[in-house]
Amino acid sequence: MRYDLTPLRGAAARQEIARAAADSPWTGLWRYRSVLPDVAPVTLGEGWTPMLHSRRYPGVYVKEEGANPTGSFKARGLALGVSMARHYGLKKLAVPSAGNAAGALAAYAAAAGIEANIFMPKDVPFANYVEATMYGAKVTLVDGLISDCGRMVAEQKEKEGWFDISTLKEPFRIEGKKTMGYELVEQLGWAYPAAVFYPTGGGVGLIGMWKAFGELEELGWVKPGKRPKMIAVQSAGCAPVTRAFEEGEKASQMWTNAATFASGLRVPKPYGDYIMLEILRESGGLALSFADNQILASLEDWARNEGIFLSPEGATATVAYDHLLKTGFLKPEDRVVLFNTGAGLKYTDVTAEAVGLRRLSQSSPRH
Ligand SMILES: Cc1ncc(COP(=O)(O)O)c(C=O)c1O
Repeated sequence: MRYDLTPLRGAAARQEIARAAADSPWTGLWRYRSVLPDVAPVTLGEGWTPMLHSRRYPGVYVKEEGANPTGSFKARGLALGVSMARHYGLKKLAVPSAGNAAGALAAYAAAAGIEANIFMPKDVPFANYVEATMYGAKVTLVDGLISDCGRMVAEQKEKEGWFDISTLKEPFRIEGKKTMGYELVEQLGWAYPAAVFYPTGGGVGLIGMWKAFGELEELGWVKPGKRPKMIAVQSAGCAPVTRAFEEGEKASQMWTNAATFASGLRVPKPYGDYIMLEILRESGGLALSFADNQILASLEDWARNEGIFLSPEGATATVAYDHLLKTGFLKPEDRVVLFNTGAGLKYTDVTAEAVGLRRLSQSSPRH
């Protein structure tokens, strides 16, 4: 999506954002409607999520995306995607999902009165299955990964008359996700942080934020300074972007036998890998991956010591931050933003299993 940004240049237009936000329905991410498609929003209150300052690390801010409707940042992209689908009169949407996009599409489609057809791995966190079903979506659980789900959508969409709203196959989910870039800059006083940590699967948020930074510079809304180093974080159980980055490749290779409890990161071959890799290199950033036991340890640490129940995906970012402090890549005083892309509460089954937590069996027998 390209806009004529000329009339919006400068601080006066920037000030309009906060004023417009007081006027419903232009709240949440719709405060940036001047740089979004001109459409009647299908909204459930997405965006403008809290920026939490760490209690222990002076430089760390956590962007709490678990506060979005359906408990993840996927709400941003699908709010835009479904708003535009309704605008164009589409009646049936389909999506392959690692889990959270399914829940988000199901919710926004229900709000818009549009049919949602969802394909997701059969072992997604239970919450993803329950929410998609409760929102009335047509759910197919697939014995495979998101790549297999994508193939099934592609095979059936023509016959079924579905519009494919997959990651990066339409332009509007990016527009929704780019608002994370606007928000983090505005919440830091219209200034860039030194680095942004992004739990990476398909990479839409990373690509969207980079687009936002370009627009912010064109608008003159961000204080002059270096763009943040973009740090893509993955699980060692599925790390195609990290491997391609380390090997100096332009694109990734399909990751075989992808397995991690950070289910949103089980994307064995991201469609936009080459765009992400370019951004990581241009920003002076990195791609890193960590084992599930390190991710789990960080998740527990942040829950106990900060009161923040990260998603497993979000906890890849906290592990990566610790790592980059140790290596000296970052200094404690560098201001950084870590994305908690989803609420820990969406993963109670997988997290409980990972820490061996079970409910006590039924109370003692009655007499
Ligand atoms: C909680 C969470 N974090 C991160 C990701 C990866 O997001 P992206 O595909 O935009 O890289 C997902 C994707 O499903 C997710 O659900």
